Amino acid sequence: MFSFLLFAQVLHFTAAYDNGAGTESPPMGWSTWCTNDFCGIPDRCSEYEVRRKADAMAAQGMVEMGYKWILLDDCWAHTERDENDELQPSPKLFPSGMAALAEYVHDLGMKLGLYTCVGTETCKKGRPGSYGHYEIDANTFAKWKVDMVKADNCHRPSNESQIDLYTQLSQALNATGHPMAFAMCNWGEENVVDWGGDISQMYRIQMDHLPMYNLPTKAQGAGYGQGVRQIIDFMADLHPAKYTKPHAWLDPDFLETLFEPIDAYSTMNFTNSRTEMAFWVLWSVPLLVATDPADLSEDKRSILMNEEVLAIHHDPLYISGERVYNHTNGAEMWSRPLENGDMAVILFNKGSLNAIDVGVEWTQLGWEATDEVSVRCLWGKKDLGVHKFGFVREDLPVHDNHFLRLSRTNSAK
Ligand code: GLA
Repeated sequence: MFSFLLFAQVLHFTAAYDNGAGTESPPMGWSTWCTNDFCGIPDRCSEYEVRRKADAMAAQGMVEMGYKWILLDDCWAHTERDENDELQPSPKLFPSGMAALAEYVHDLGMKLGLYTCVGTETCKKGRPGSYGHYEIDANTFAKWKVDMVKADNCHRPSNESQIDLYTQLSQALNATGHPMAFAMCNWGEENVVDWGGDISQMYRIQMDHLPMYNLPTKAQGAGYGQGVRQIIDFMADLHPAKYTKPHAWLDPDFLETLFEPIDAYSTMNFTNSRTEMAFWVLWSVPLLVATDPADLSEDKRSILMNEEVLAIHHDPLYISGERVYNHTNGAEMWSRPLENGDMAVILFNKGSLNAIDVGVEWTQLGWEATDEVSVRCLWGKKDLGVHKFGFVREDLPVHDNHFLRLSRTNSAK
């Protein structure tokens, strides 16, 4: 464990790409993606809707807590460019135009992001992609004072490499002089972890996350998306602590918080949504809620707006948590070092069969067995006493997690 920590510390803050767009911590906010329908079918959005959601986010205190990005996915653009060959929003859905919407969002202390594609069309056929128009589109986004551009990977000419195209678009965005975060969405292809952080502020590392707990398909590259459980396994194998750093965030895709079209234990019910949140927090990845951010239910608020949980997400060390063990019965333990010497720990029952006991021993964290450690339950916001040797959560239900903050109370810190 010590060597892992040292390794993570050395790699930390090496190369990062700060273009002034405000990405020193992982972006948090709302995306249109799963708000009105089954994640992108048909991904409708409108000026009226976006203003109302922005108002609601501000009124509910979400903006104050850091949820300040509003990202319009493949939903806003008109099917044709205008007479100057520029992208334009659907005139029916955005009658006041994008510059006016950006101003509205900015006045609430929020930021606006728009979607495009490095290929000739967006992933939903019918809307123009930016291929052959990188400069002109970057200038259009800058003219509207957009703060982030997401670039998808569909309809890309097969003779072009992804690294070339994404680099060109990144350079075009920066050449405008208006700071815009670049969110690359190449689904983890072409070993994006080796170069994504050099040209973008956040980059997708696998296919779409579909709103399910368990969806065993391919984790990286073209495929049909995956569930929470598959992303957790994917991240364990990736060793995210090697990569996570300010202005270069790994992106395992949107949060599908409480997306539950049917009452089934494999959709994003309360437990699955809370487990998704715990891991996204532990990895310090973007928290982009793709379900409705207005009229938060008590459950949704408890998942998204727990300040003790969010403090782990923004812990200034920004070292992603890593898996420490996984057992065949589904028990897993993950840990993450924090700036003040504390440790964040997730005890997790990955399995789907029965409740199990999941524990952490202090020596697994690089601490002495005899250290006196105070245990704080983050979801429940309560102290669970001071313990030597370790801590066991008994009967952890299937798919559930026990998210802890551990502080050594002896001088060993
Ligand atoms: C791809 C992306 C998604 C979303 C859609 C839009 O599938 O991976 O995140 O942007 O396209 O059509």
